[in-house]
Amino acid sequence: MNTLPDDLISKAQSLIAASRRPVVFSGAGVSKESGIPTFRDALEGLWAKYEPEELATPQAFERQPELVWNFYQHRRDTLKDCQPNPAHYAIAALERDKPETIVITQNVDGFHQQAGNQNVIPLHGNIRENRCYYGCPGEWPQEAVPEGDTVPPRCPQCGESSLRPNVVWFGEMLNPALMEAAIEAVDQCDTFIIVGTSGAVQPAASLALKALEEGKTVIEINPDATMYSERATVFLPARAAQVLPLLILGGMERPC
Ligand code: OAD
Ligand code: ZN
Repeated sequence: MNTLPDDLISKAQSLIAASRRPVVFSGAGVSKESGIPTFRDALEGLWAKYEPEELATPQAFERQPELVWNFYQHRRDTLKDCQPNPAHYAIAALERDKPETIVITQNVDGFHQQAGNQNVIPLHGNIRENRCYYGCPGEWPQEAVPEGDTVPPRCPQCGESSLRPNVVWFGEMLNPALMEAAIEAVDQCDTFIIVGTSGAVQPAASLALKALEEGKTVIEINPDATMYSERATVFLPARAAQVLPLLILGGMERPC
């Protein structure tokens, strides 16, 4: 049951309907209703005894590549039981309706792509892909790893047992090309929709501040207020899966 005031919904609906170049900036909250365990949730069972620094840093991979690889296999396995939720599908419908829509996501679950968005900037990478620890060019989908390969698997370029998940680890820099594309997307957009992020992590969080500073129309969806909420054009204290379909599909003449 939607408990939001109607005028808030219709204001956000008309702002989204009027936009031509929306950017959706998403965080872990958009995947909450998909039941995605957060990074800390994944530190359960036999992984509970490890600190994140022992499992998600370049140093950890240098020290114990097999342990780190197996931890990410565990995270990929838990992802298998999860699916995109109505929020992801509403954002995919937005891109079908407005082809210049761009998604900038901090999530590594690949659900925006799986739900159908084509223009996705995965700032923190994608857990379903691997890349070479030694920097060989390219990313390879997890499915492409041959059965019975070494652990970690061999890089298709250099042949070393050096494949690592294509995600940003603690202490690592973001891929500069992705950050550049994200900054460009904020510059070009006319509407900036913030969904389910606490804004706790830089430099990603600075993108939403940039949109606010540049006077973009900013719509935020989050059950809890964040540092963006007071300055947003419209702040909707709500869950993404509950309200995004309403804002996006509800505002369309013919939901596509
Ligand atoms: P956080 O866990 O910091 O914040 C999640 C946000 O989602 C919070 O503000 C919640 O209030 C909100 N939320 C919870 N349920 C929601 C729902 N149903 N609908 C909408 N919002 C909801 O996650 P992020 O802000 O994404 O970095 O954190 C950013 C980064 O911190 C992650 O990408 C990861 C982590 O370190 C890397 O992996 C590099
Ligand atoms: Zn290589």
